Amino acid sequence: MTLRTAAPDDLAAIMRLERETFPTDAWSEPMLRDEIASPHGRYVVDAEAGRLLGYGGVRAVAGAPDADIQTIAVAAEARGRGRGRALLRELLATARSRGARSVFLEVRDDNPNATALYASEGFAQIGRRPRYYQPDDVDAIVMKLDLAAWADAHGVGGAHSGASAGADAGSAAKGWC
Ligand SMILES: CC(C)(COP(=O)(O)OP(=O)(O)OC[C@H]1O[C@@H](n2cnc3c(N)ncnc32)[C@H](O)[C@@H]1OP(=O)(O)O)[C@@H](O)C(=O)NCCC(=O)NCCS
Repeated sequence: MTLRTAAPDDLAAIMRLERETFPTDAWSEPMLRDEIASPHGRYVVDAEAGRLLGYGGVRAVAGAPDADIQTIAVAAEARGRGRGRALLRELLATARSRGARSVFLEVRDDNPNATALYASEGFAQIGRRPRYYQPDDVDAIVMKLDLAAWADAHGVGGAHSGASAGADAGSAAKGWC
């Protein structure tokens, strides 16, 4: 699989996958355009033969101690083959390279697959936000990762190590994964 930083030209394909993946609470095109363009995060795409199979984004302001996974999505037909984990690791490496020490995310309480992915990378549940996802009325599980421990476990370099170089993105205040 090939991961690369998202470019403005990826927006249409990202929006298609966004609407397929999150039919009740997809982000709008202007929001995702801003996310991709922002210097305060990074969006990554997984594309093969010109086809978008996945994308993910992290908000990681340079020098800030906390970063947030904004989203991760893999096309339904491409799931279960390690793409989600690869996207997540790339985003975590980006956060690490920018100096973050902790990474946070919210995940729907009715999404055991994503929760298992996050837990297997070392995220721990630290809270719950009742009825966070509307209109579905589903709780959010809030999770946190100690990035130094994760980096040690995976041999990822420290801040500004160049572990995840590339152009940047991401600006929404709400992590919504
Ligand atoms: C969550 C998602 C990104 C995972 O992507 P993926 O490419 O299928 O995941 P991977 O193949 O990398 O699997 C990584 C881990 O996720 C968990 N997982 C993924 N699919 C699973 C399933 N069907 N059942 C149980 N666990 C699953 C497992 O822990 C798995 O590790 P393992 O293979 O060692 O058991 C993907 O299912 C998806 O896009 N879902 C819809 C959008 C979404 O929920 N995004 C997350 C919002 S917070």
